[in-house]
Amino acid sequence: MLDTSKLHIHYKNSGSNKKPKIEKYTYDDFDFYMWDYQEQTKIKHEVIEEYLFVWATKLGSANNIIYYDGFSGCGAYYNSTDNELNYGSPIIAKQQFSKARRDSKSTFYFNEKQNCNIDNLKKVFMHAGISSNNVNYIQGDFETNIIHFLETLEKNPTPTFFMIDPYGINVSFKTIEKIMNIPKTEVFFNFMYNFPRRFTTKSSVETNLTNLFGTEKWMNYKDYKLEAKENALKELYREQLKTCSDYVYQYRMCFPNDKRTYYYLFHATNNREGCSIMKDAFAKINFGNVEFLGPNQPRPEQLNIIDFNQEKIKSLKLLIWEDYKNQTIEYSKIVDKYLDSTIYLERHIREAIKSMNKEFLDIQHITSKTTVKEGDIINFYSTQKVPEINSQMSLF
Ligand SMILES: C[S@@+](CC[C@H](N)C(=O)[O-])C[C@H]1O[C@@H](n2cnc3c(N)ncnc32)[C@H](O)[C@@H]1O
Repeated sequence: MLDTSKLHIHYKNSGSNKKPKIEKYTYDDFDFYMWDYQEQTKIKHEVIEEYLFVWATKLGSANNIIYYDGFSGCGAYYNSTDNELNYGSPIIAKQQFSKARRDSKSTFYFNEKQNCNIDNLKKVFMHAGISSNNVNYIQGDFETNIIHFLETLEKNPTPTFFMIDPYGINVSFKTIEKIMNIPKTEVFFNFMYNFPRRFTTKSSVETNLTNLFGTEKWMNYKDYKLEAKENALKELYREQLKTCSDYVYQYRMCFPNDKRTYYYLFHATNNREGCSIMKDAFAKINFGNVEFLGPNQPRPEQLNIIDFNQEKIKSLKLLIWEDYKNQTIEYSKIVDKYLDSTIYLERHIREAIKSMNKEFLDIQHITSKTTVKEGDIINFYSTQKVPEINSQMSLF
């Protein structure tokens, strides 16, 4: 807990009569500044914390691994709810790789445009007592600097996690595509939907938007109404990512005090397990949900997580039955179909299939008899087999 008498708030010089915004905090005992911590940033950090530990553990067991942060920030946040110092993405990554005992196999690249943020980040590292071994600080524009990094990576593909977390829409789809075309890479990209939402009717940013989407198709949706426009633009970006990445899932993040979308966190990976683990990580820290709903966020005391999961499995069973009735298919193909296109987690899919066994389908087990696994074959019946009284109602 910080001592609030030592804390100083610095406001942005907005020059208007709007409510002043906090630029940063300083604290008498620290030689660095901190940014204001908002709820959605906290969730973003908790998700990468959870995910990077697993990612480093798994991928670093047989390989060298790399973490590349394109927009590193200043490294520190003041959390006014808990009155505490929280760390930014570079420090979280370094801590998780150490916790996974992968320090000796990892290399970190922290890119940041502002010199003052890099200086601050270095001080925060010192304060946290984390070694700067294998850390490279790069000052400058992400789009420019990444080109050199990718040229080297292409020659020696190494599992690399790219954290791309800009404030605006200055990351081109071409860059993301270039990254994803190198084997063993994955991207966690903050797609600042707040910008396309506001600007699609202004011509001055048309070039930026075309670069962001990697196509001019976004123009087709300029005149759509709010919700339809958001869906169309999100789907367009997802479609673009799917051209270079096998699995793409997007986590909707609302403003903390407003139910409108602030940004989408897009996770692009060629590894099904990676997609599944990221979804689990998000759901774990977000009451089972794969979106952050701001003021509509469920409160823990209102939730019965068991009922909530059962409801999901019920609706998923209905969907599976509609899609696969009378077909024979490998279990992993069913997971592939739903994992990055629906809200369901892999364990929901497994539970749904298991609970439909013998009534709607047969499972041809290949390895384990007690669960459903990759390689298992699912034979769906053409009609429900055990028509017990009220069973339709009880199942769906
Ligand atoms: C949202 S913050 C990053 C927060 C950080 N990822 C975290 O979670 O703690 C975005 C950062 O990008 C930096 N930035 C802005 N434009 C940039 C650019 N073109 N290239 C690299 N960094 C940039 C800003 O100075 C800011 O520090």
